[in-house]
This record gives sequence, C-alpha cells and structure tokens, in this order.
Amino acid sequence: MRVSLFIKILATYVLVVFFTITVVGGLQLLLVQNYLMDTKEKELLVKSQDLADIIKPLLISGQDPHPVISSLNRADRILGTEAWVIDNSGKVLAASADHIHCEGNVLEPRDLQQLKSGQVSLRRGQSQFFQKAVIRAAAPVLDQGKFIGAVILYTPVAGINDTFSKMRELQSGTAILGIILSVILGLFLSRYITRPLREVSQVARRIAEGNFEDRVRIKSRDELGQLGETFNYMTQQLEDYEKMRREFVANVSHELRSPLTSIQGFMDALIEGKNKGDEQEKAKYLSIIQKETYRLSKLVNELLDLSRFDAQVVYFDMEAFPITTVINRATASLKPQLDEKNITIRTVIPKDLLYCFGDEDRIEQVVHNLLQNAIRYSPKGEKILISARLLTDEILVEIADNGPGISREELPRVWERFYRVDKARSRGMGGTGLGLAIVQEIIKKHGGRVTVESEHGEGAVFGFTLPIVTNEV
Ligand SMILES: Nc1ncnc2c1ncn2[C@@H]1O[C@H](COP(=O)(O)OP(=O)(O)OP(=O)(O)O)[C@@H](O)[C@H]1O
Ligand SMILES: [Mg+2]
Repeated sequence: MRVSLFIKILATYVLVVFFTITVVGGLQLLLVQNYLMDTKEKELLVKSQDLADIIKPLLISGQDPHPVISSLNRADRILGTEAWVIDNSGKVLAASADHIHCEGNVLEPRDLQQLKSGQVSLRRGQSQFFQKAVIRAAAPVLDQGKFIGAVILYTPVAGINDTFSKMRELQSGTAILGIILSVILGLFLSRYITRPLREVSQVARRIAEGNFEDRVRIKSRDELGQLGETFNYMTQQLEDYEKMRREFVANVSHELRSPLTSIQGFMDALIEGKNKGDEQEKAKYLSIIQKETYRLSKLVNELLDLSRFDAQVVYFDMEAFPITTVINRATASLKPQLDEKNITIRTVIPKDLLYCFGDEDRIEQVVHNLLQNAIRYSPKGEKILISARLLTDEILVEIADNGPGISREELPRVWERFYRVDKARSRGMGGTGLGLAIVQEIIKKHGGRVTVESEHGEGAVFGFTLPIVTNEV
C-alpha cells in the first residue's frame, strides 16, 4: 500500500503531539508526585522522632499522654496528620481527635516487632485500621535501650493523590485538545506541502507528453516557491530546446531537399535522354550533379562534426604550435578562391608571438572557415587583413574584410546553426550556415572565445582567442 505524503505528515504531527503530552507529561507528573511523597515521608519521620522525644518522659512517669498529643496535633490538624501513642505491648494508649476510636487497638505483631528492635519505620498504603491511602511513620520510645512505647503518625495522601488525579485529567484534556489542534495544523501543513508537489508532478507529466505551455503557480517565498521557480525555468529551457530541435530538423530537411531535388531532376533528364547527342549539355548536367553531391557531403560532414561536438566525443590532439603555420596553410588552401576574386591578403603577425595551444588541424579549420567567409562575402579586388596579437594570457587572431558587413541586430545570430543573413545569396555561394557554428564550438572546446565586430556596409572583423603556451617551446 502506498501511504501518501499527506498521511505521513499528518500522522507524524499527531504522534509527536500525543507522545509529548502523554508520555513526557505523564513522566513529569510521576516524578513530581514521587518527590512530593518522599518529602512528606521524610517530614513525617522527623516529626515522629521529635514527638517520641517529647512523649518519652510521660511514658516513663506513667502520665496520660492525651493532652500533649492533642495540643501538638492541633497544629498539624489542618494538614490532617494524626498521632498515636502506644505502650510496649502495642496497645494504643492515646490517639488524636479523629482517631480516638482507635484507642485500645493493638498494633500488628510485625510492626511491633520492628519498633521493639529500636528501628523507625515508614509505610505507604492502606492502613489496617481505616480504608484510605496513608503514609505512616513510627518512631520507638526507648528508655536506656529498653522499648517502652512508640509514636505513630498518620497522614492521608488523598490530598496529594487528588491533586494528581486532577492534573492527570487536565493532562488528558490537553492531550485531546493537542491532538485536535495537531490534526487541524497537520492538515493545513500537509496540504500546503503536498498541493504544490502534486501540481509539479501534474505539469511534469504534461511536459513528458510534449505539452510545454503549462507552468506551475507556486506563490510561497520558501523552498517550495524555489522549487516552482526552478521547475518553471527548466520547463522554459526544455521548451526552447524543443523549439531549437524542431527548427534544426526542419533546416536539415530543407537543406537536404534542394540538392536532392536538383540531382534528381538532372539525373532524370540524363536517363530520359532529353539531351541526346549533346555532349556539352550532358557534361553540364553532370557537373551540376557533382556540385550538388559535394554540397550534400559537405553538409553531412558539418552536421556530423556538430553532433560530435554536442555529444562531447571529439578528440583534440592538443599541442603547442605557431599560429603563423596555421594561417599560411589556410590561406594556401583558399588560393583558388582568392585568385578567382582577385583578393589580396595582408598578414600582420609579430615575429616574437608566443606559441598557442590546441589542435592544429581544428584551428586550421577555424581560420579556413573565417577566411572563406571573408573571401565569399567580399567584393572582387578587395583586401583582407589577417592579424594576430598577444593579449594578457591569450592570443587574438582577427580576420578583417571590406565586405558588406552585418547589421547590429543580426550580429549575435550569425553563430546560430543554419543562420544566414542573406539566405538566397549565401546559398547561391554554397553556404549552409554551419561554418560559424562549427568555429564557435571548436574555440569553446579550446577554452577560447569568438569575437565579431561589424556595421552594415562597413566590413566585418571576425576573431577568436586561444590560450598561449607560457614557457616558450
Ligand atoms: N565576413 C562576413 N561578412 C559578411 N557576412 C558574413 C561574414 N561572415 C559570415 N557572414 C554572414 O553570416 C552567415 C553565417 O556564416 P556561416 O559561415 O556560418 O555560414 P555560411 O558561410 O553561409 O555557410 P558555410 O560556412 O556553412 O559554408 C553567412 O551566411 C553570412 O550571411
Ligand atoms: Mg561560412
């Protein structure tokens, strides 16, 4: 059986209150009661011994102890203490007012025996002579070691017991009231805790079913409120991720569809032989198919790269290398495009620039992507400046072009996957909009950061930083 949190909180509350009031309260009562009884007993014992001393000369001289008993007893009457004087045979010689009827009675042999041995005695319980709970203290009167009588004091404990039974009644009342109160408070508390939890679990279920619009409404400013806030934040993140995922899938499908449609069309034309005999036309079709296939394979490779970065399964071959080599290699690989657009490159790198630390091939990919963009988006005959310089503990590489630039609003978005400022133009140039996203991933994994500065119509400066190797290699 699953016991709900609601019941658990409620039961704990009630049990704690019940335990505290009954067990702890009961124990306290018992302790106080025992303490009072003990004090009373000790007091009675001392009194009986004092009285024995007073009675002793009377017993020796054979005088009537009545007047002494009643005068001494009078003071204690209010407290209900009764006094007896017995002779050496255990017979009651004199008893104070309320016990006068006990005169002539004989003490139990057991008690007499104890007194004869010269010992004081204390007893708690019912008396043999009257049916109520009493404390009895008996002190022997000895004349030169010889037992000549005794003084016995009785005090009823009814007063103490009555008080305690009243206190117990009060305690039971408090317990009942406490339980009722704890049930009410427990109900409120457990509802207060479980209601938001139930709401969170309901919303979580709806999220699992793909419904991201719901949010939890927890107003409290405590941990539960915090839970609600965190949960809503998580839901928002999930919603964003889900949106990103959908956009990504839509983008990928779109990017795959156009080259595939193009390939399909030209293939059909070739197979159907529409261009029979026209070798030049055939070659043109084949070259388009080849271009589109390259494009597809580039797209798939870039996507694979990105998914590996996301899954953190990319291995980086980290080493120290001079940034110049990487820049030179990237420039060389883009020579055909540079020549085609008649673009010149100027490189400004200080000779004593320290080595940077990273995966040389990956950094070459970064420089290649940035340089390719600069070439791609620059007009013919323009200049591109590649510079590197040392910042405090990193190297900053920048590639500046005199192209159309990017407007302020679009600037932050260029790092997004598939984002292209001028979609048609970029596509026409063979761009898929993944180049900068890959650059960012690689640099991020190297512990560096990417930078971009641009104004519409003012050219663009793309850059990245890399950690340096502090001890020169
Ligand atoms: N140097 C630049 N000048 C002007 N716009 C740029 C520059 N570099 C990038 N952009 C803009 O940013 C967009 C994203 O660049 P990114 O390199 O990610 O994609 P791409 O060049 O279109 O395609 P890919 O690099 O995947 O072949 C480009 O489409 C372009 O609009
Ligand atoms: Mg690019």
